[in-house]
Amino acid sequence: MLNDSFYYGDSALCCDGVPLSAIADAVGTPLYVYSAARVRHNVERLRRAFAPLGASIHYSLKANASLALVRLLRDAGLGMDAVSAGEIARALHAGVDPARIVFAGVGKTAAEIAFALDAGIGWFNVESRDELRLLDTLAGERGLRPQVALRLNPGIRAQTHEHIATGHLGAKFGLTAAEVSALLDERGAYPHLRVAGIHVHIGSQLGDVAETVAAVRAAQAVAAPYVDVRTLNIGGGFPVRYTEDDQVPAPDDFARALTPLLEGWRVLIEPGRALVADAGVLLVSVLYVKEQGGRRFIITDGSMTDLLRPALYGAVHEIVPLDHPAAERTPAVVTGPVCESADVLHRAALLPPLGAGDRLAVLTAGAYGMAMASNYNLRTRPPEVLVEGAGWRVIRRRETWDDLLRLEQDESAGRS
Ligand SMILES: Cc1ncc(COP(=O)(O)O)c(C=O)c1O
Repeated sequence: MLNDSFYYGDSALCCDGVPLSAIADAVGTPLYVYSAARVRHNVERLRRAFAPLGASIHYSLKANASLALVRLLRDAGLGMDAVSAGEIARALHAGVDPARIVFAGVGKTAAEIAFALDAGIGWFNVESRDELRLLDTLAGERGLRPQVALRLNPGIRAQTHEHIATGHLGAKFGLTAAEVSALLDERGAYPHLRVAGIHVHIGSQLGDVAETVAAVRAAQAVAAPYVDVRTLNIGGGFPVRYTEDDQVPAPDDFARALTPLLEGWRVLIEPGRALVADAGVLLVSVLYVKEQGGRRFIITDGSMTDLLRPALYGAVHEIVPLDHPAAERTPAVVTGPVCESADVLHRAALLPPLGAGDRLAVLTAGAYGMAMASNYNLRTRPPEVLVEGAGWRVIRRRETWDDLLRLEQDESAGRS
């Protein structure tokens, strides 16, 4: 969806006043472009919404861990939510205070836990009894006593795509209420841990505030007997509008519903998508146009390797031309060159007549876009540009074929 940062000015699509065609001319396509102003706007929007709860905001790095964006979000005063040691290392590299990092994830390895302990991160969100034991052992070996939140699986099936619903009992995530209670009862068995919080995250792109309220109530019910457990990490999942038709609750709606419940609680939130999704677009160029089976196919140089969400989740990202079309728009299937029928960027984009060389913007692509990009078909991952103030800069260059070879043992190298 277009917004205050991505809009048509004088008939050309702009990012904060910079024509996107100028960036595409200079850098080539496919290419991600992000708006620093939009990211900051989103931070302020969430901050304002959750101010009545005094919530501490931890950006969920999985949405987009581009170093420049992580630094921008750190400078905006956010902590970070990491789900791997790699993400913790990225946050530390960006200068994030380790005490402001929370570490979630259902399958942390011993090496990752050790790394996080040595880094001195703020909270471990623990998802199983075995993980709690391992964390206690590794903390004890180091003479540490880190803070732990137990991740509750509240048994709530969030109304979102099945791949990103995480709060129901068939999902791998978290501990049941009975397990959380049992672990809180036996906290004394883990002398090297301060088990002081509950974590609950029922999914991403959450469409129903009532489900989040129910999850929070479930977490409070479990914590109620333990007066020193008054920290609640309510996760992320705040949704964004991908199309004009999307009707989703705003951060304010979540905060308004939760504020009366959370008085006296220390609250953390872990938004990813809501901070960066509408701050990014993927620019692609048309390679070929053809009619097949009664459908118009627009084959572009961007693909599922650059933006996986349409293939993985059936996600709909609006696609618009960089030059505002005067002509009538008709439906087209926008695809990439990858050898998969799933390689679709849009199944029915409304687009004007197009030809080779025309350029398109895939909108609302800042979250789970570049973060999920791959080298499938030995495609190089796209570069990233950040528009800031009146200027722009490349924050990650395009990968090269040499980059793709870098980690391989080339056993024929040097042989004649
Ligand atoms: C534990 C946890 N926290 C936060 C998030 C961020 O979700 P979102 O990007 O929808 O805000 C996720 C993503 O699924 C997650 O698994």
